[in-house]
Amino acid sequence: MGELAVFRVSTPPLDGRADLEARLGALTTFLLDTQPFWQARPFAALPLPWEAEHPALSAWLRALPLHKADALHADPARLREAPGPLPGLVAEVARLTAMGPLPAAPHAALPDPFARVTGRKLHQVQALVAAAEAVFPDGIELVVDWCCGKGHLGRTLSAAQGVVTLGLERNAELCRTARDLAASTDARCAFLPTDVLDREHWPAVPPLRTAVVGLHACGALTDAAMHFAVEGHARAVLLAPCCFHHVPGEDPFVPRSVLGRAAGLTWDDPTLRLPTLEEVVASAAVRRRRRHEFGWRLGLDLLVQASTGAQAYTPLGPLPPGWHRGDFQMFAEHMAGAASLPLPPGWDPARAEAAGHDRARLVAALGLVRSQFRRPFELWLVLDRALRLADAGWEVAVGTFCDREVTPRNLAIVGWHPAATR
Ligand SMILES: C[S@@+](CC[C@H](N)C(=O)[O-])C[C@H]1O[C@@H](n2cnc3c(N)ncnc32)[C@H](O)[C@@H]1O
Repeated sequence: MGELAVFRVSTPPLDGRADLEARLGALTTFLLDTQPFWQARPFAALPLPWEAEHPALSAWLRALPLHKADALHADPARLREAPGPLPGLVAEVARLTAMGPLPAAPHAALPDPFARVTGRKLHQVQALVAAAEAVFPDGIELVVDWCCGKGHLGRTLSAAQGVVTLGLERNAELCRTARDLAASTDARCAFLPTDVLDREHWPAVPPLRTAVVGLHACGALTDAAMHFAVEGHARAVLLAPCCFHHVPGEDPFVPRSVLGRAAGLTWDDPTLRLPTLEEVVASAAVRRRRRHEFGWRLGLDLLVQASTGAQAYTPLGPLPPGWHRGDFQMFAEHMAGAASLPLPPGWDPARAEAAGHDRARLVAALGLVRSQFRRPFELWLVLDRALRLADAGWEVAVGTFCDREVTPRNLAIVGWHPAATR
């Protein structure tokens, strides 16, 4: 196969407003058309709205043992064996969310100050630094590391590219750690304890000679980065958003772009949380603990439904410390007492616990349908934010900056001020 053929089969990133708008439009149509499949959450109430219309799929999923449901969550391509319309939905999701990598400079040249970063964070930082090197235009004198945490990104960027970086971080303790880590390197970086949501505290930066990077600044924090960049005349941004539901005071969420607002999707909190409901990075032990907790919560909920006649899940408060060391009966009595919820007289703890775990199995199995919509929603939300920059006259691109095994939040927005040549 010649080089050209290889190039053709690889997926490019989305580059330019027209590309982004076309994809956002296609995703919007798909999400509106498939609403019954993603709107209801299986743990909240069963049966799901689509089950009556698709009895073969419903029965197939309901019969899945937990380990098979887990395996299918891990490898949705195997859902091609499922009854319709699931295989078609999976194929359409794959088509609509195909996304290529952003350009990246080679990693090998990066110097050592990662020494204090390990594991996936190291790979995320390396990948974003490599992308920054490839996409930022010439003439950048200062890079602002937005919500920098311990400053790994800014420190590494400075050491790799010799640029001065300024980390903004609300947590003063993290800022101190960031300074200590940077002190042992030749990176030229400063860290400022700042609430980035308070524009009064935004630092003055050299217009058109500043770039903004942000690694996993949650929802509203990435929005603030874009405001800062547009209003402060930054030259470029490279932002990898996460936690889309973190938009304090906004319910429903209002899309950021003109096209997004015209789309006609309603953004309640469960929908905004859908993209980040993934378990890709959780360890097996964490997943087991969550599963155990979930089974118990659902077992208790079934008891509450039996005694109150409620038709939907009743949210419970936080778990008491050491909850998992007791048995289900202790758990149920404690939680029900704390929330003033009645339990049926003479309830059988063993049966109730087994019913909870079986409900958790059903939720995992039927959830195979709703979970297919995580990536489409995530990409929609990322494109909407990128188009907000395009609405301000910026050039934009969206692509991946690393593999999903490194972080499931692997999409990044690149923006260039209209005066910047790439
Ligand atoms: C998910 S962490 C990402 C940290 C860092 N960018 C990284 O990838 O390691 C989000 C960071 O945002 C900071 N943060 C949250 N709200 C903030 C605010 N209003 N202003 C500044 N920083 C904030 C948190 O303290 C946390 O360090």
